[in-house]
Amino acid sequence: MLEISELYQRFGDRVALDKLSLAVNGGEIVGLVGRNGAGKTTAMRAVMGIYRPLGGSITWFGHPVALSDRLRFGYMPEERGLYPQMRVLDQIAYFARLHGVELPAARSEAQRWLTRLGLEGREQDQVVALSHGNQQRVQLAVALVYQPELLVLDEPFAGLDPSAVDSLSEVLRAETARGTAVLFSSHQLDLIERLCDRVVILEQGKVLASGTLDELRARSPQRLRVKVASSADWTANLKGVEVISKDPFGVLLAVTPGMDTQTVLRQAMAAGLVEQFGLETGGLVELYRKLVSN
Ligand SMILES: Nc1ncnc2c1ncn2[C@@H]1O[C@H](COP(=O)(O)OP(=O)(O)OP(=O)(O)O)[C@@H](O)[C@H]1O
Ligand SMILES: [Mg+2]
Repeated sequence: MLEISELYQRFGDRVALDKLSLAVNGGEIVGLVGRNGAGKTTAMRAVMGIYRPLGGSITWFGHPVALSDRLRFGYMPEERGLYPQMRVLDQIAYFARLHGVELPAARSEAQRWLTRLGLEGREQDQVVALSHGNQQRVQLAVALVYQPELLVLDEPFAGLDPSAVDSLSEVLRAETARGTAVLFSSHQLDLIERLCDRVVILEQGKVLASGTLDELRARSPQRLRVKVASSADWTANLKGVEVISKDPFGVLLAVTPGMDTQTVLRQAMAAGLVEQFGLETGGLVELYRKLVSN
């Protein structure tokens, strides 16, 4: 549905997007990750037409994105953008009206989203009177209230409490179930791992890695976890094996191509009762650490 191709953007000498390509299909949640300044916000702003990129193309169902398409996109900007003095219900209904929802549906839909996002009872409060996290819920309601076909959410989970994180996760799943395409950025890799169908890791405006979670996990370094019921330091005799960490849950060893795991097992057994011995994958966090240098 959404296709970003070879997007290029520069600010002065600084290249923010370096021929970035990615796609988001209907019914799919794509997570955008990458360190501060990697280009996530710049890419999302280009999709929303906030500026005209210097190169590349952005298409929606194969045609260049038009204003009428963008009216069907729901956007949560990084810098947020609400009218502080407006009342919560009025605010959400106002955005629904801007995107073509007629009265009284605009108000009833606004009320429905307020309730869904845990803001019931705050309808008549001014936005400025809400806490940071609750203002964020209003910002989300504003992006969702007109049943968008594409959701572009710039760090929607930042600052939300655990129950708001859960309800937003449910909302995103429900939105994709009705065919919406979702692109969101986050620094919370656990959330990305929990929610996304596909992940795109950005670095200096380029795609460093992308794929389904299974594809990315397969690229993540493997570890061998060994727990021995003994206080002896049995790892001292292991040759050519990197010990990543030691804690009450055991010893974590880096798995290398030539590693002889049976020798490791024998050494562990010689030290005491082996309570745990198994391979584990580092998941997205480990892969991210491996790929994104500091
Ligand atoms: N309006 C602007 N003027 C000048 N430089 C900009 C502008 N917007 C973005 N940049 C630069 O473009 C690069 C990408 O920034 P961007 O905000 O897209 O990063 P990000 O991935 O969203 O980071 P963060 O995780 O901190 O939100 C950075 O080097 C930034 O300094
Ligand atoms: Mg950003």
